[in-house]
Amino acid sequence: MTESVAATPPAAPASREAVVRIEGLCKSFDGRLVLDRVNLEVPRGSIVSVIGQSGGGKTTLMRCVNLLERPDRGTVEVAGEVVHQGGRTVCRDLPRLRRTVGMVFQRFHLFPHLTAVENVVLAQRKAGVPEERALERAVALLRRVGVAHRALAQPEQLSGGEQQRVAIARALALTPEVLLFDEPTSSLDPEATREVLSVMRELAADGMTMLLVTHELPFAREVSDHVVFVDGGRIVEEGRPTDVLDTPAEARTREFLASYGTAS
Ligand SMILES: Nc1ncnc2c1ncn2[C@@H]1O[C@H](COP(=O)(O)OP(=O)(O)O)[C@@H](O)[C@H]1O
Ligand SMILES: [Mg+2]
Repeated sequence: MTESVAATPPAAPASREAVVRIEGLCKSFDGRLVLDRVNLEVPRGSIVSVIGQSGGGKTTLMRCVNLLERPDRGTVEVAGEVVHQGGRTVCRDLPRLRRTVGMVFQRFHLFPHLTAVENVVLAQRKAGVPEERALERAVALLRRVGVAHRALAQPEQLSGGEQQRVAIARALALTPEVLLFDEPTSSLDPEATREVLSVMRELAADGMTMLLVTHELPFAREVSDHVVFVDGGRIVEEGRPTDVLDTPAEARTREFLASYGTAS
């Protein structure tokens, strides 16, 4: 690619390379279908938010992307590689997938016996990053999410907002191509929620590719390129945030939004 081509504006979203591509994904638990023919694309540099009621299949969808859950049918592609197809996991290099996809969970999942900085070093150590470089990067990442001053604290000594920011630093440690967030603020109080959303806003401004499950609808409206409403394991409606959140076409979407008091 020449300099002049590289300097042209980004292509329209539809033609951008997808970092995550899901097609015809189905998943059942105990014979009960919880994801039903889901198609989803997360183009590089974009933010896709998934919204919907509890039990709708959002977490299962996220877990299918990084193979914490095995889909029954369909295709999952990450960074151009098929990792799951037709009921079979075909990922040849699981460690590479783990590096490519960073994940932030609702309940932080930090290692309780390690300090904040050790939590961020650990993933790098496992991936073979030399200790000194891993430590330098961990400190830089903790600084980036605003918790460098808490580097030597253990998770139980940290507030929820601090723990989640450490978890974000950890998810960034192996320079992932996409970050998955599963309700990252739903166990936080309003102030901690603001702290974490502000870190996520900065990541968005930096061009990070993100797939996000959230109940923070104003935040989803603000940062997302695409919003997907999932209900009963199916995508009911999707589109631009203003379309889906302000003028939804489907009655089910309107009903869901009304329960938040954000739409009539
Ligand atoms: N490991 C599991 N075993 C059995 N049922 C599960 C499992 N994980 C999720 N489910 C069920 O699948 C459905 C979707 O769950 P989930 O993906 O967690 O939804 P959401 O994240 O939208 O709340 C729920 O009915 C849930 O009880
Ligand atoms: Mg969930």
